[in-house]
Amino acid sequence: MKVRDILEKACHENILTKDEIKLLLMAEGEDKDLLFKTADRVRKEHVGDEVFLRGLIEFSSYCKNDCFYCGLRRSNNQAQRYRMQEDEIVEVAKRAYQMGYRTVVLQSGEDMYYNKDMLCSIIKKIKSSVDVAITLSIGERSYDEYKAFKDAGADRFLMRFETSNRQLYEKYHPGMSFENRIECLKWIKSLGYELGTGFLIGLPGQTIDDLVQDILLVKELDADMIGIGPFIPHPQTPLKDAKEGSVDLTLKSIAILRLLIPDANIPATTALGTLDPLGRQKGLMCGANIVMPNVNDLKYKLKYELYPGKICINEDATKCRGCIESIIVSLGRKVGQGKGQSRHYKRAA
Ligand code: 5AD
Ligand code: FES
Repeated sequence: MKVRDILEKACHENILTKDEIKLLLMAEGEDKDLLFKTADRVRKEHVGDEVFLRGLIEFSSYCKNDCFYCGLRRSNNQAQRYRMQEDEIVEVAKRAYQMGYRTVVLQSGEDMYYNKDMLCSIIKKIKSSVDVAITLSIGERSYDEYKAFKDAGADRFLMRFETSNRQLYEKYHPGMSFENRIECLKWIKSLGYELGTGFLIGLPGQTIDDLVQDILLVKELDADMIGIGPFIPHPQTPLKDAKEGSVDLTLKSIAILRLLIPDANIPATTALGTLDPLGRQKGLMCGANIVMPNVNDLKYKLKYELYPGKICINEDATKCRGCIESIIVSLGRKVGQGKGQSRHYKRAA
């Protein structure tokens, strides 16, 4: 089958076979250009030219887990740890609102210091102070906690499954189970959150066939938001000598998922911008429609080191906002107004 025919099928049926996805992941030259162009067109048709910005608040760099790739892993005793207190988190959310953000993403390591009541209180305080959507990105919790956060006012939840290959998952996430992660994602969806999930590109040992399965798993979970980023080796982790993930495969995965879930929200991730100075622009031109700038103080930004070389680490939040806005305009797009709920979610509701 030719790439042109596969793309045609994807546009009409929003589904592809493993072999077809694999062919698209391996596309080069004109075929690759056609994949990107098609994804860009589908993006425009289904979610328009608006690029929505999300204010990212990384509120704790403590983590109970020991993921092989992540700089926040608990065994990294050189990592700088901080916890923001309740009122400080609420203040940053308010500041984000004043800067124009209508979604804040509360992200942290898996830090049980923040128990159910504390997180509910933070969510309620933000919701009663400013009119923003709240996205949580805090990892695995119990059903009861997810329900309580939703009832408190959280709207969306981001949690990547990282890799659909069970062996790789268990190798790189000691003490964690793939089943449990998938179960959490299903709970989150069933509770009525907008669900965001996705995976890492280029974990050592990951094959093209694994990436095909990763793409199909995002489709199967029926994600409203899709986060895909290249793996970047962190010097204080067991994967320090591994090769970084491919920007090209990341862009192709974004493009393919735009075709399979045309109305999803898809960010051009910070990791993409870190490996390629034009990475976010390229992402926005092959299917992405979201950017998630950090709105925290510099003193915290520097300490939340998932991977080295993160962009914008020395820029204050106002500068980043301006910079991102000019990138969006330079691509002939516009900054989204309002909360930018996933259009995929509306349809499912
Ligand atoms: N390189 C790229 N992405 C990483 N993440 C964690 N560590 C790294 C790394 N070294 C990603 C994970 C996680 C998200 C918050 O950050 O995919 O889900
Ligand atoms: Fe932060 Fe460009 S987006 S400096």
